[in-house]
Amino acid sequence: MIVLGIETSCDETAASIVVDGKETLSSVISSQVAVHHPYGGVVPELASRKHIEAIVPVVQEAMHTSGISAQQLDALAVTQGPGLIGSLLVGFCFAKAFAMSLDIPWVGVNHLEGHINSVFLEPDSPDFPFVALLASGGHTSIYSVSSYTEIKLMGQTRDDAAGEAFDKVAKMLGLGYPGGAAINRLAERGNPNSIHFPRTYLDRAGFDFSFSGIKTSVNRYIQARKKTGDLNIPDIAAGFQEAVVDVLSYKIINASDAKNCGRLAIVGGVAANKRLREKVRIDAEDRGMKVYIPSISLCGDNAAMIAACGYHYLKDGRVSTFDEDVYSRIRS
Ligand code: KG4
Ligand code: ZN
Repeated sequence: MIVLGIETSCDETAASIVVDGKETLSSVISSQVAVHHPYGGVVPELASRKHIEAIVPVVQEAMHTSGISAQQLDALAVTQGPGLIGSLLVGFCFAKAFAMSLDIPWVGVNHLEGHINSVFLEPDSPDFPFVALLASGGHTSIYSVSSYTEIKLMGQTRDDAAGEAFDKVAKMLGLGYPGGAAINRLAERGNPNSIHFPRTYLDRAGFDFSFSGIKTSVNRYIQARKKTGDLNIPDIAAGFQEAVVDVLSYKIINASDAKNCGRLAIVGGVAANKRLREKVRIDAEDRGMKVYIPSISLCGDNAAMIAACGYHYLKDGRVSTFDEDVYSRIRS
């Protein structure tokens, strides 16, 4: 089944052609980072306008590079939520209109389930069941995954997402937006053990997170040191990153232990973090667990994961109807 995936939930306009939820023929991502950078975060109104400009050329490029014609498409998959309403609407309305004109089925995809499906686009993908950590700019959650579409929440952040903490600390350090990758780069020159920032495990046996405390503690450290002029920015970046990575890896390994499945996956923008990838691999493999982390290009928002997830929805018999709408928050 040849599926065109479309993703516009935040600040990336993306389109991709995927065959049978596995083989990516094309994946085009048009990033708006340069547009939002001066504002230090995503400006929703600007994001919607940029999606409107980009959607047609991005889909055309995905079709063109795949060598697939519109008539060869079997179905369309599009992000339905959660995300920014104005941004979601651009992709969603486009997909409805395109599916109607081609007279093919289409399905709205949960963006978070899309991220989890990114692991299946790699040649070596996990068997079921496994546990997955989704760490992005908007979410930090742990799921128990028993099939492509049976995905159950085990725990989530009670305040900030991990990516949000990276972005806020990057702002404090004057590194601009988005800051995760910049902190990651800077941390390579710092000592992760010279400054100890707190690790919030909450209930050690549970799977909820809290990242607002560490952000406040980094801020307090910076303010105190500013007075003495004794600020080592790479050490702060490395110390902060190490604290977040410690908590994320501890929790996902514990989740795999709790489910006794011996397999875990890490997905979402923060899964691009080199130290997280390395630490989880070392700690989990020490315990005999198998670790699945998609390549960096599949960690951030992309449409291949939406096409793959949509394919599995369709195989389960799920199709969307034209009266459906987007949603900004997770539906329970
Ligand atoms: O999944 P994503 O592209 O978009 C959302 O759905 O939110 O995730 C974006 C988040 C941002 O907060 C960004 O700072 C973070 O992922 N990020 C990173 C790295 N690359 C991106 N965080 C830590 N280390 C990185 N290398
Ligand atoms: Zn995302």
